[in-house]
Amino acid sequence: MLSFLVAICVLLQFSQASQALHNDFISSVRASETRRSGLAPRLAVCGNSSHLIQQQGDIDMLIRVCSDNIQGDIVVSSLYSDPSLDLGSIKSISGDMVIADCVSLSVVHLPELQSIEGSFKVSNITELSAIVSPKLKAARSLVWQKLPLLTDALLGDRLDSLEDVLITGTDLVDVDFLHKLKEVRSMDLNNNPSMQRVDLALQKVSERLSIYSNYDGTDVQLNLLKVCEELFVKSADSLGLNSLRYVGKSASFVDNSLSKLKLKSLKHVNGTLSLVDNTNLDSVDLPNLTNVDGGILVVNGTTVYNSNALGALDQIFPYTVLTAQKKGKKRTTTSSTTILHYSVPTILRDYEQAAAGADLKQSSHDQSIEATDATDNSSVRVGASTLRMIALWLTTLVIGLLLI
Ligand SMILES: *[C@@H]1O[C@H](CO)[C@@H](O)[C@H](O)[C@H]1NC(C)=O
Ligand SMILES: *[C@@H]1O[C@H](CO)[C@@H](O)[C@H](O)[C@H]1NC(C)=O
Ligand SMILES: *[C@@H]1O[C@H](CO)[C@@H](O)[C@H](O)[C@H]1NC(C)=O
Ligand SMILES: *[C@@H]1O[C@H](CO)[C@@H](O)[C@H](O)[C@H]1NC(C)=O
Ligand SMILES: *[C@@H]1O[C@H](CO)[C@@H](O)[C@H](O)[C@H]1NC(C)=O
Ligand SMILES: *[C@@H]1O[C@H](CO)[C@@H](O)[C@H](O)[C@H]1NC(C)=O
Repeated sequence: MLSFLVAICVLLQFSQASQALHNDFISSVRASETRRSGLAPRLAVCGNSSHLIQQQGDIDMLIRVCSDNIQGDIVVSSLYSDPSLDLGSIKSISGDMVIADCVSLSVVHLPELQSIEGSFKVSNITELSAIVSPKLKAARSLVWQKLPLLTDALLGDRLDSLEDVLITGTDLVDVDFLHKLKEVRSMDLNNNPSMQRVDLALQKVSERLSIYSNYDGTDVQLNLLKVCEELFVKSADSLGLNSLRYVGKSASFVDNSLSKLKLKSLKHVNGTLSLVDNTNLDSVDLPNLTNVDGGILVVNGTTVYNSNALGALDQIFPYTVLTAQKKGKKRTTTSSTTILHYSVPTILRDYEQAAAGADLKQSSHDQSIEATDATDNSSVRVGASTLRMIALWLTTLVIGLLLI
């Protein structure tokens, strides 16, 4: 009987022990499962192609879980309602950094950020006044738009690599934080009403450079720029382009308050050179210019050309010159008519080669060309009849609209 009881006790003990063992086993499995399942979302989060940030805490979590080098995009959208955003220790982002439509965001801090492999886009934030990113060195593009209170871009002194830049609708006074850029594909600075100065060390623009409708009378200094595929400048009151040698397509200077335009190194414009609505312009100096393949268009300027203005020009396609009189100034017929001295055979030959060309060239052809002597220097007088003025203005308007 006793032995029976002992046996039962032993059995009970054993079953309890085995139960405990079993429990131990289960819990250790559970633990390892939780450990593993703790890892699983971490990898999923860090490997995600996009990280949506709804509050500052999401950034802190991202750093804790994924380290300082973030794979994918960081997207801060309209759901973000804090007044400031701080990327903390984040050093690099392999995708885009997008901050858009946040209602009350006023300051963005990116204290350690050095590179954004994609775009740095900040847009449509009415309260944003400062972007602080002192260590940023490179991004593929910088797109800042609709930031009406943005006055401070504290980007330090390292930013030297951007392919494309668009800054529009900000309150920035200058773009000095871009002064280390030597080469870009495109740069577009427009409608920044306080931007009084654009002073850059760019040497090459492989697609398009546009600076327009900023402060009324922007000081534009691009004195190291040698080669620019396409150039458009509007609303400038001074312009330094001392090194510009080659323009691949068109160069357009529209509605600037400049009184002098001197492009002393310009040699070749493989497109149209347009001077439109520069009503204060009274001297144009292009001493090195030899080729303008698409013609020269001058509209509504009081520019007085003389035979030196277009110095070395020996190949010129049909050009159109339209002068208007300066307000309050009476001019004689002679001074409001532009006279350029070139040998007519050259002009005609070039014109024939380009005959199948654009409407612009066509309309130029309609201009009266009075040749006094085909072999000698000839005066090419270009009158401005009302009809032609209207036709030209339509052309200019279309070109203007295309450019803008
Ligand atoms: C990855 O991102 C998508 C879309 O942003 C989101 O729906 C998903 O929950 C994210 N996955 C993880 C594990 O965070
Ligand atoms: C700009 O942001 C506001 C506020 O978040 C939003 O309501 C509006 O739709 C946004 N506008 C555009 C053009 O995205
Ligand atoms: C023509 O261009 C060269 C090279 O940029 C420059 O040194 C020279 O001064 C220019 N000529 C004139 C008349 O400015
Ligand atoms: C001028 O432009 C034409 C096309 O518009 C191009 O084929 C040609 O190579 C250009 N010339 C130079 C010198 O770049
Ligand atoms: C020339 O410019 C003046 C002043 O900007 C403007 O009033 C006028 O209409 C322009 N002329 C033509 C022909 O468009
Ligand atoms: C032709 O024009 C050049 C300058 O454009 C001038 O130096 C030269 O004297 C002119 N020749 C004649 C014959 O008028």
